[in-house]
Amino acid sequence: MEVKRIQTLALNHQLKELPPQFIRPANERPENTKAIEGVTVPLISLSQPHHLLVKEIAEAASEWGFFLITDHGISQTLIQRLQEAGKDFFALPQEDKEAYANDPSNGKFDGYGTKMTKNLDEKVEWVDYFFHLMAPPSKVNLDMWPKHPSSYREVTQEYNKEMLRVTEKVLELLSEGLGLEKKVLKSSLGDEEIELEMKINMYPPCPQPDLALGVEPHTDMSALTLLVPNEVPGLQVWKDNNWVSVNYLQNALLVHVGDQLEVLSNGKYKSVLHRSLVNKERMRMSWAVFVVPPHEVVIGPLPSLIDDHNPPKFSTKTYAEYRYRKFNKLSQSETK
Ligand code: SIN
Ligand code: FE2
Repeated sequence: MEVKRIQTLALNHQLKELPPQFIRPANERPENTKAIEGVTVPLISLSQPHHLLVKEIAEAASEWGFFLITDHGISQTLIQRLQEAGKDFFALPQEDKEAYANDPSNGKFDGYGTKMTKNLDEKVEWVDYFFHLMAPPSKVNLDMWPKHPSSYREVTQEYNKEMLRVTEKVLELLSEGLGLEKKVLKSSLGDEEIELEMKINMYPPCPQPDLALGVEPHTDMSALTLLVPNEVPGLQVWKDNNWVSVNYLQNALLVHVGDQLEVLSNGKYKSVLHRSLVNKERMRMSWAVFVVPPHEVVIGPLPSLIDDHNPPKFSTKTYAEYRYRKFNKLSQSETK
């Protein structure tokens, strides 16, 4: 079936008004749900003394489920090269991109995609994306990665190494923040079998950004998500009943706590609700790396965090089961 790409729609310069399937109900529209002013998300330098770092990260993960990290050791050049490669892919002629089209309804999640709605009253998000696995090497199929631009594979493999390194570091700090041994979270998530998935989001300029959403409010089902955006702001996180805008900070890495860490920590760490807005003149892009356990790994509150005073808040199930329930939009209480 032919999929209507948002990029194709946006390139039609006649498009002055947003087509109805993108117009959000009044209570969801950005114009009616503006971000609070004067509040900023936590910013954490990885180069500070260890005990302070553990405390800051644990606080941010508990209170926000979201933070920015700096001094992570990933070179700015590498981030720029990654971003150039992604931009070049989306600038390819449409038929070249279609050669990578995914087909989620048939279980083919990898490739070039645009989310489709299941029923008529569901709204469409203003975003196209490219999705593929990055790690572990035994499961990666490089044929699923863009062949053009020719730098894509090399740059992405280099970025993958950095993501593995930072993931390990952040999981160690978060383990210590729970009062546990450093390796606990990583080993609960499958150790060397831990999977990294790359999702490049491309939000074309939108004729009426106040009426649309790039990505609707959701929590990530990953354990962690590590994201770099381009310079066009749009991400907002939910905190104390308000949306808080995430300002662009060059070279910072944006970290989301996802559902699997909320479950493992028995709710001490929060899976952050977030959404993204779009821009009238400028294309927004983001590179999200999802850190997830292999499908067969069983995730539940860590036994060492459970006692008579702290009963489990979530059920224990395989990641595959969790995913199935979330995709099929079973209610939150049934999901977790
Ligand atoms: C997402 O959370 O799905 C996208 C976030 C972003 O583009 O910043
Ligand atoms: Fe997300």
